[in-house]
Amino acid sequence: MAEAGHIRITEVGPRDGLQNESVVVGIADKVAFIDHLSRSGVAEIEVSSFVSPEWVPQLADAEAVFAGIARTPGVVYSALVPNERGLDRALAAGVDKVAHFTAASEAFCQRNTNASIDETFERLAPVVAGARAAGVPVRGYISCVVMCPYEGPIDPATVRVVAARLLDAGVQEIDLGETIGVAVPADIQRLYDGLAGLLDPVDTTLHLHDTRGTALACAAAAMDLGVRSFDASCGGIGGCPFAPGAAGNLATGDLAYFCDRMGHATGVDLDALFDAARHISAVLGRDLPGRVFRADGKIPTTPARR
Ligand code: HMG
Ligand code: MG
Repeated sequence: MAEAGHIRITEVGPRDGLQNESVVVGIADKVAFIDHLSRSGVAEIEVSSFVSPEWVPQLADAEAVFAGIARTPGVVYSALVPNERGLDRALAAGVDKVAHFTAASEAFCQRNTNASIDETFERLAPVVAGARAAGVPVRGYISCVVMCPYEGPIDPATVRVVAARLLDAGVQEIDLGETIGVAVPADIQRLYDGLAGLLDPVDTTLHLHDTRGTALACAAAAMDLGVRSFDASCGGIGGCPFAPGAAGNLATGDLAYFCDRMGHATGVDLDALFDAARHISAVLGRDLPGRVFRADGKIPTTPARR
């Protein structure tokens, strides 16, 4: 977890960002994107997913992407794994950390993983055991911590039950996913009130989508509660193919700018981050939603490096 006063940022653009893109991004462009991000000062990069290539074709090249990137010492290179098969692939690719995923909603869990919440815990057990044997930490995502696209509002008490099960299962980090980007600060307060006594805010990571433009307000509220670790995506790309209506993640540049102006160090160099955003914007052939990037990064003062 991050030190007090320091905000730890995990860049999820190469995974959450690209998984939702219809444009097929080639291996070389993914590698270049990640290499730019490695120079941006983020603490961790979620490089790809070792999920079923039939479910997420965009990330079927996870092995090749891991093989191609230039790793910066100190940066954690992680990946999503849904099951033991995914763990084996991830370990062979040399991941530093794996992220398993379940949900606080049965309906979403089923659509996202073809499994009930209980079944995702059956898949998690060998992932934790195998990762532990390999000395690799496990992040446990809980999706739909505020709202499910199929079930509607989620009771914070349900999130608490799933979080307690993840802790019992032996994950090192709990990541709370606001999957479809509906939350306002009062929801974040209720979410953390529901975890009181089980999990301190400082021991969580918050994963916000920005569908309705409320993610940064939620991040600010979470910081006030003591949260020090956030996921964000370069330029604000992102979404989940199995969560209708989920648009991009909180943009890394928006979060880093906000933190910097509020006196929280992130280590992120916005100019270097914007190089990554310009690269992926050109590859995707569209403007990106990140506000600070649009204001300060979109028109390069030096020629864009691709
Ligand atoms: P399934 O079809 O039930 O799997 O999918 P299965 O175990 O029945 O296996 C079927 C076939 O898939 C088999 O191949 C397996 O080998 C293969 P066959 O024998 O038929 O040739 N297979 C695999 N291949 C490669 N890698 C694997 C793997 N596993 C099985 N790891 C499964 C179950 C979990 C695999 C599938 O549902 C899946 O891949 N789901 C992933 C969905 C996904 O990636 N969603 C987006 C990420 S989550 C997210 O975005 C939310 C988050 O951002 C937080 C938030 O915002 O809330 C994290
Ligand atoms: Mg997400």
